[in-house]
Amino acid sequence: MADELENIPFFVMDYMEGRTFEQAIFEEGNVYSLPESIHIMKVLLQMVIQIHQKGIVHRDLRIPNVLVHQGKLSIIDFGLATYINPKEDIMKVKNPKRAANHCSDLYFLGHFFLFLLYSAYTPTESRQKCWQEELQLPDEVKNFIERLLLIRPSFSSAEEALHSIPDI
Ligand SMILES: Nc1ncnc2c1ncn2[C@@H]1O[C@H](COP(=O)(O)OP(=O)(O)OP(=O)(O)O)[C@@H](O)[C@H]1O
Ligand SMILES: [Mg+2]
Repeated sequence: MADELENIPFFVMDYMEGRTFEQAIFEEGNVYSLPESIHIMKVLLQMVIQIHQKGIVHRDLRIPNVLVHQGKLSIIDFGLATYINPKEDIMKVKNPKRAANHCSDLYFLGHFFLFLLYSAYTPTESRQKCWQEELQLPDEVKNFIERLLLIRPSFSSAEEALHSIPDI
């Protein structure tokens, strides 16, 4: 429902039960294994495909913006969402966070994936290394994340990312 109160527009959304992934990881100390993390990524990609099919890109798919309740996920906070601009060249994305196409959501999902995987990581030395060295992931998982993060050539769509996710 959308309305206005004292000239300020507002809309009311369904209240979704649950806690954010930020709370689950950092407050409750939840740990996600690689297979669990891949499963969560698959579910998120399926949801993101539906959002993109409506011509919208969320652009803020971070751990405080996804709720989990009894294993069911809800994406919230469309405050930075925009309509997909088909004219934007996906080969020339300068700032993936702000891109008005699927690259933005895939880029954020790359970081989301790393947060899930780091939940199970305990440092073994004081020197900080890059995630590729610290997480010791199978090559196909590392390559998949590098494509989400645009370190390697990106996926042409969220569907392609879903079909390319490694089965572990
Ligand atoms: N539909 C909802 N159902 C249940 N809880 C919600 C819902 N929307 C938001 N929340 C709760 O409120 C918190 C903040 O919401 P949201 O992410 O939309 O705003 P924000 O990020 O604080 O604001 P902004 O994006 O304007 O900076 C969420 O982390 C969640 O705990
Ligand atoms: Mg938010």
